[in-house]
Amino acid sequence: MTTPSWHPVQWTGDAVRLLDQRRLPTEEVYVTCRTVEEVALGITDMVVRGAPAIGITAAYGVALAAQLGVDVDAAIQRLAATRPTAVNLFWALERMRRTPRESLMDEAHRVLEEDKAICRAIGEHGAALIPDGATVLTHCNAGALATGAYGTALAVIREAARTKRIRVFADETRPYLQGSRLTAWELQKDGVDVTVITDNMAGWFMQKGEITCAIVGSDRTVRNGDVCNKIGTYTVAVLCKHHGLPFYAAVPVSTLDLTMRTGAEIPIEERPPREVTHVGDRQLVPTGVPVRNPSFDVTPAALVTAIITERGVARTPYESSLAGLV
Ligand code: MRU
Repeated sequence: MTTPSWHPVQWTGDAVRLLDQRRLPTEEVYVTCRTVEEVALGITDMVVRGAPAIGITAAYGVALAAQLGVDVDAAIQRLAATRPTAVNLFWALERMRRTPRESLMDEAHRVLEEDKAICRAIGEHGAALIPDGATVLTHCNAGALATGAYGTALAVIREAARTKRIRVFADETRPYLQGSRLTAWELQKDGVDVTVITDNMAGWFMQKGEITCAIVGSDRTVRNGDVCNKIGTYTVAVLCKHHGLPFYAAVPVSTLDLTMRTGAEIPIEERPPREVTHVGDRQLVPTGVPVRNPSFDVTPAALVTAIITERGVARTPYESSLAGLV
């Protein structure tokens, strides 16, 4: 897999530099965060997003606090209050909390470098599941933009595409459009054959036999194998079940939360209504009409064909297969 020339998260020596994912696909600009508060806002406002990338950014936020000589515990507390669903955030902060102050910067670099290796390994384990000639449906963006490099679901696609003919259908992913804006952007840059469809088209293409399988990332996968991911993932999994298609989740071990028994325990972030009522400046909903904006859903383990991790592929019963991998 080739390493992208752009990076979602970088340490500059005195600041955290984030590729501004709000401005993609039309503008490739960076935001420089020089304080812990700026890093926290970068996560909340989705300058950076995607579970592993959020964890990496938070790790650098803590290292930045140490370098600035501000209270590291307060920084951890502030960063933990940014987004509630992706467990990688809390995993990374816990890792930093246990690290001696003088080693925090090295540890943040390690979180980033390890993530790159993890994504590569996920790609290698998962690629065998994708047949030559496949059209793979993916939802949201579980790509290089969401990780240290390569992605999770998109690492599997990238690795498979090295030796096989692979076509990707990217769900648009309402309301934040991570599929059409981000997945299409990075796959096009890599020369992967990608076509954008709106979320409500997936069933039609499955019915017509145009989709081979679906592969998604995850923000938190729990002990029984329930997979929490971007809102709309559950719908994709139900459609796969109905059409007899494999539904795969690509999940680094840092996204496994074995302290939770089922997906019902996962805190689901509700994001601002404006993401639903508007696209850019264009209003789509009458003023005053309430909207809901849960950012994630939970796909029950029974709908998940396999969970691809950097340590191997887990299959049902997940309670034992996931525990075996951790
Ligand atoms: O709200 P987002 O864009 O942070 O949601 C991201 C997702 O749902 C991804 O699929 C998930 O974090 C996996 S990223 C490898």
